[in-house]
Amino acid sequence: MKVLGVIGSFRKKGNASFLVQKALKPFKEADIETELIFLRDYDIKGCNGCEGCKETYKCTVKDDMQKLYPLILEAEAIILGSPTYFYNMSADMKAFIDRCYCFNVFDDEDRSVWTSLNEVLGVKYAGVIAVCEQDNEAGMGVTAEAMKRSLESLGYRVISTVKALNAYKAGEVLNNKKVMDEARRAGERLLKSIQLKERVKNQLSIKE
Ligand SMILES: Cc1cc2nc3c(=O)[nH]c(=O)nc-3n(C[C@H](O)[C@H](O)[C@H](O)COP(=O)(O)O)c2cc1C
Repeated sequence: MKVLGVIGSFRKKGNASFLVQKALKPFKEADIETELIFLRDYDIKGCNGCEGCKETYKCTVKDDMQKLYPLILEAEAIILGSPTYFYNMSADMKAFIDRCYCFNVFDDEDRSVWTSLNEVLGVKYAGVIAVCEQDNEAGMGVTAEAMKRSLESLGYRVISTVKALNAYKAGEVLNNKKVMDEARRAGERLLKSIQLKERVKNQLSIKE
């Protein structure tokens, strides 16, 4: 079992980074493998809309996203963390999500019908963490919601959403115990969801 933390901020010691790491803590404590991905370390171009993935479910763009695809498919859960940039997620996070388009599979005749590789492989869980400078949710805009809805369309069940307001300087969020606790709780709920799923899976196979 593996859980990915994906950070859309350039600041490795920034707020999104600390919050995602806090959410990953319960997994580490349970000896579950985690991997922290700073998108800035990867060369990820935007989706070019070629639809070349339509039949193969593989992206045609040859860049570092090709290294991340296997990790995403293999991971049981994913936690996305992004700063708010102009009321939305960062460009790095947007590119990452757009490039997951190859996982979505549409019905040939009716494009209002779709599934995703994640759904086909089994339910996956996710958490989203958004952080912004303003002290009100309006200042955060659609950051959290845009990540959540994208993940849902990619077949994830989003268990927790953390919105950290009022954090401007890198690492400032560490002084906000309430939101750091929320991030930890988000990780705990994600972990418990996976454990619950595993428990029921085991029970069912015992009965079979
Ligand atoms: C390009 C840019 C745009 C930003 N836009 C917003 C915004 O729309 N609303 C807001 O509250 N904060 C905004 N901020 C502030 C960041 O969201 C805030 O500093 C955040 O804590 C950065 O997270 P990080 O430490 O993980 O990088 C912006 C910052 C930058 C650099």
